[in-house]
Amino acid sequence: MCGIVGYVGEQSALDVVISGLRRLEYRGYDSAGVALVTADGLATDKRAGKLINLEESLDRTPLPAATTGMGHTRWATHGGPTDRNAHPHVDCTGKLAVIHNGIIENFSKLRLGLETNGHDFSSETDTESVAHLLEDAYAAAGGNLAQAMRDVCKQLVGAFTLVAVHSDSPECVVGARRNSPLVVGRGVGENFLASDVSAFISFTRNAVELGQDQVVEITRDGISVTTFDGAPAETNEYEVTWDAAAAEKGGFEHFMLKEIAEQPKAVADTLLGRVGVDGKLTLDEMRLSDEELREVDKIIVIACGTAYNAGMIAKYAIEHWTRIPVEVELASEFRYRDPIVDPQTLVIAISQSGETMDTLMALRHAREQRARVLAICNTNGSTIPRESDAVLYTHAGPEIAVASTKAFLTQIVAAYLVGLYLAQVRGNKYGDEIAAILTDLRDMPEKIERVLETMEPVRKLASTLKDKTSVLFLGRHVGFPVALEGALKLKELAYMHAEGFAAGELKHGPIALVEAGTPVFVTIPSPRGRSVVHDKVVSNVEEVRARGAYTILIAEEGDESINSAADFIIRIPACPTLMQPLLATVPLQVFACEMATVKGFDVDQPRNLAKSVTVE
Ligand code: M6R
Repeated sequence: MCGIVGYVGEQSALDVVISGLRRLEYRGYDSAGVALVTADGLATDKRAGKLINLEESLDRTPLPAATTGMGHTRWATHGGPTDRNAHPHVDCTGKLAVIHNGIIENFSKLRLGLETNGHDFSSETDTESVAHLLEDAYAAAGGNLAQAMRDVCKQLVGAFTLVAVHSDSPECVVGARRNSPLVVGRGVGENFLASDVSAFISFTRNAVELGQDQVVEITRDGISVTTFDGAPAETNEYEVTWDAAAAEKGGFEHFMLKEIAEQPKAVADTLLGRVGVDGKLTLDEMRLSDEELREVDKIIVIACGTAYNAGMIAKYAIEHWTRIPVEVELASEFRYRDPIVDPQTLVIAISQSGETMDTLMALRHAREQRARVLAICNTNGSTIPRESDAVLYTHAGPEIAVASTKAFLTQIVAAYLVGLYLAQVRGNKYGDEIAAILTDLRDMPEKIERVLETMEPVRKLASTLKDKTSVLFLGRHVGFPVALEGALKLKELAYMHAEGFAAGELKHGPIALVEAGTPVFVTIPSPRGRSVVHDKVVSNVEEVRARGAYTILIAEEGDESINSAADFIIRIPACPTLMQPLLATVPLQVFACEMATVKGFDVDQPRNLAKSVTVE
């Protein structure tokens, strides 16, 4: 949503903060700003637009040197993306500045009270109220910024990460979090605050996880964490397992291209270490007992966007392997429909970031109904796994591009592991059957690599189709969520009208969209598996072709039966039906990425979006 960095140490605070903001820009990029505590007092600059606008402004008018400071990159909620609404927001004294991620729900009431008491506002944001509240609280707390933060947090309703500096407390930066991420980086003679570890990974790999409703004060040599009531709080310190290179483009033009290329490794890493010496599947982080898992009589997957599509794919596998009914629900809808959830329900929350507010709220609702919640997550220590009963981490490494790619493939793999584990514990499958499926999974990185090696024609296809106004995606069985994912990628990256449909559903209405030349991507199921599905999909291809569609078929190597129905064929290696999404999605990712490039759009930071959506 927004990216936050705070620093106190011996280096140039501006350099540290700007380098952190570059890494966090994926979280929001409609304005950016910095505040430094200099020898002459507080110095700030903030600009609408991407970070580069702020950097150019700082080049034109440099700020005085400082070793304490903070910065923000914004995804607007309250108040449009203007210079005035950009963070930091400053109090009436001009000495205190605050940056914020999240939404202060009671801000209008707070603002009214503050204005009545004589505070002047200069923006339309909810955040500015916090600056003025801190101004009063700082005075009341005798110049103790951490105490002021604690006092203010107790007055706020909503979700927030806040970071503040005050020019009369030049050696410290104070942060707070509720339902929004904030992590501490522990250095030597310097400490960091950030929305995620990528902001300080070039300086330190030692991170301190903050809990819910905690306030942190960092100085050069100390990190002190308390609850909002001021009681000392327990924290969890850990070492980040990836390095700065993982958060850089590594020679690729875009993060998305790098992340697409990393998929074989990401899938392999997610499978690593999951089988014990006895040949049985072991999920170390699975904090649910076998007994609890045997009691499960229903599974509900909750997720958003791409993670939801991964859940849709997982449904086919988990139901097939375990015979447990699986519902897949958009997290934003889940709690508002009074879902039937009880202690025998296993809720699987899938989230790359682990911070998506819709998913977090849905999982809290599930826990209130006493369901057990298992998170599938890519971000160590983030809120969703922390609030779940169990967690299975995907090991995709940092995903920076807003469009999710490697996270999607690893979410499918992780959900499959959960399905197989349930089948193992509940005795739905023999050990050798599970071992055979694990072998199929282990074959996938090499097959994904082969798909990646043959993507040049797909790139050219994007140029050929760049003037089309609408693109359709079809599939059946696990090919249906692949179609949804292909359409989502194209929408978010190339801003084109794109729809994914279940191939069999097309004739019930959407086929009216097909006109001469409409590109229609279709994932063709393996003819070796349940060939009836294969033949039905081929019939669906013929139906759209008869109406003038330009058909692009993603089909298994050796399946020549589709040749006459195809205008363009993308070949993928043969694999079992349930594994096919791990291959068929890759050309769709490449197509969308290339289409955005051809159209001259920003691949990594598409318009209107942010990587993690931490508001409902
Ligand atoms: O971090 P999460 O996996 O919870 O994010 C969920 C969605 O916001 C995310 O997948 C989004 O749809 C992607 N931008 C799609 O590429």
